Amino acid sequence: MNLILLGPPGAGKGTQAKRLEDRYGLKQISTGDMLRAEVKSGSEIGLQAKAIMERGDLVPDAIIIAMLSARVSQPDVTKGFILEGFPRTGAQAEALDLVLADKKMPLHHVIELQVDDAAMVERISGRYTCAKCGEGWHDSFKQPKVAGVCDSCGGTEFTRRADDKAETVAARLEAYHKQTAPLLPYYAGRGVLRVVDGMAEMNEVSSQIEAILGKSGG
Ligand code: AP5
Repeated sequence: MNLILLGPPGAGKGTQAKRLEDRYGLKQISTGDMLRAEVKSGSEIGLQAKAIMERGDLVPDAIIIAMLSARVSQPDVTKGFILEGFPRTGAQAEALDLVLADKKMPLHHVIELQVDDAAMVERISGRYTCAKCGEGWHDSFKQPKVAGVCDSCGGTEFTRRADDKAETVAARLEAYHKQTAPLLPYYAGRGVLRVVDGMAEMNEVSSQIEAILGKSGG
């Protein structure tokens, strides 16, 4: 099964994608994570993307499309994938259609996490990640059992994303509404768009998605 999770910054795409990966054995593909890895490694793509991401703008389509096309050609996605943070523009959506048609991979569902923008700043600015295992945490909504110690790996060092400052979040939300939200009618017209309430509690959001996908994800 192949899915797209769509929604503004902070909607819970990454949170839900990880749960779906565990529940259904699908592969999470996050263009944001891929870009952050490029920045960290100091690669040519990373050097081009760093300042753009820190401003909250979108990285040029040509870079993203080349990166994504290579990723979906890897053997670990044959059981299915969850695209998260991609596509974000009409050009990316059209490129994805071509890649999937070429590989004879159907797109089963596009799941929109519907949220209120006003709540996203709090969600994003409270978010942090375990530096050792990458588990995501939140100052208010998802705290480790012991303060300062990651439940998953026992790590005690945490990081916050450079683009998670309130002013950058505003630019990211604007980019979403201008460039990405127009994809919703595009997918609705193809009969693959499903909507869930992303303002609900995390487990409730997962239940709503599982109700769409069914027990086996078929
Ligand atoms: P990217 O990494 O894709 O970030 P984003 O879309 O801005 O989304 P986030 O990761 O901020 O949020 P999320 O929806 O995953 O929420 P999360 O689950 O973490 O992109 C970053 C940048 O890279 C872009 O700005 C752009 O520059 C570039 N880029 C990436 N892809 C690109 C592309 N295709 N084209 C061009 N440029 C691209 O949840 C947020 C927090 O809320 C967490 O702390 C979580 O614990 C909490 N939370 C989650 N769900 C709930 C809930 N239901 N209730 C309460 N709290 C919740």
